Amino acid sequence: MHPLRSSVPTAVVVLLMVGCAGPQSALDPAGTGAERIASLWWTMAIIGGLIWAIIVSLTLYAIRAAPERTHPRRDARRFILGGTAATIAILTVLLIVGLRLMPELLATPDDALHVEVSGEEFWWRFVYAADTIETANELRLPAGRAAVLHLETADVIHSFWVPSLAGKVDLLPGRTTRLVLEPTRPGRYRGTCAEFCGLSHAFMGFTVVVVDSAAFAAWLERQAAPASAPADERSARGREAFLEHGCGACHTIRGTEAAGRLGPDLTHVGSRDRIGAGRLPNDADGFARWIGNAPGLKPGAHMPAFGMLPDDDLRALASYLDGLE
Ligand code: CUA
Repeated sequence: MHPLRSSVPTAVVVLLMVGCAGPQSALDPAGTGAERIASLWWTMAIIGGLIWAIIVSLTLYAIRAAPERTHPRRDARRFILGGTAATIAILTVLLIVGLRLMPELLATPDDALHVEVSGEEFWWRFVYAADTIETANELRLPAGRAAVLHLETADVIHSFWVPSLAGKVDLLPGRTTRLVLEPTRPGRYRGTCAEFCGLSHAFMGFTVVVVDSAAFAAWLERQAAPASAPADERSARGREAFLEHGCGACHTIRGTEAAGRLGPDLTHVGSRDRIGAGRLPNDADGFARWIGNAPGLKPGAHMPAFGMLPDDDLRALASYLDGLE
């Protein structure tokens, strides 16, 4: 075979497999739940492939078989009985394989970390139960230790999904649902809301940062500390503007008098990957754009636009928030 012709199928397979990797892929698992789901997926894919091959072979046989060898009544009976029996057997096997995963996926180890998760229109609130630390749109977890998430919603139905780590679970008004994440390797993984929940459903992303246990303990300690003091005059003006313009009615910055609960806790907002639930980069320009016109960037968001602020105040606010590492 010409070398080019033989390398084409290989290239296609490699391209397909590369498409399965990345920070948001159920086929590139980085957590025990996702590993079990991926192995179930491969089992189903292999069984589905075998069924396809059998059906194609039977079809080719039927097309090529000599007419005198066929008996329409007998063949139809075999087809109906055989097809029904095979379908029941295959679905029963798949059901058993799937149900056997359930207890393992729901088990709670004794040393698990507990995190309360709240879905809001259109962002995620994470509260580390034992440490009263609150973050938004960024969940940090230690590798090799299970984390039990207790999920509630503040408004409508959302669905929490980090394909690389585990399956998805819905957040239902009036109920607390549960999901166990057990990351196996450090990295950054992307999560998303997987249930249509309003105008900005597509802008409800978050990041899961998995680090080793020492880095996690250091992070918890930094997060527990109150907000750092403004580093320069402009940021100091930003803190004044934050309090003057009433931002503290919705946001908390520990260490200041701002103690609002409606919006994200901003005590260490500058340390997060992105802002606006993944909408903008976390830098001074991102903060200025967000504060100036949040509803324009994220339709339906409860954060009002502050485009009427003097440009100096807007820049000072952005500089202050960006410095809250
Ligand atoms: Cu929340 Cu979709």
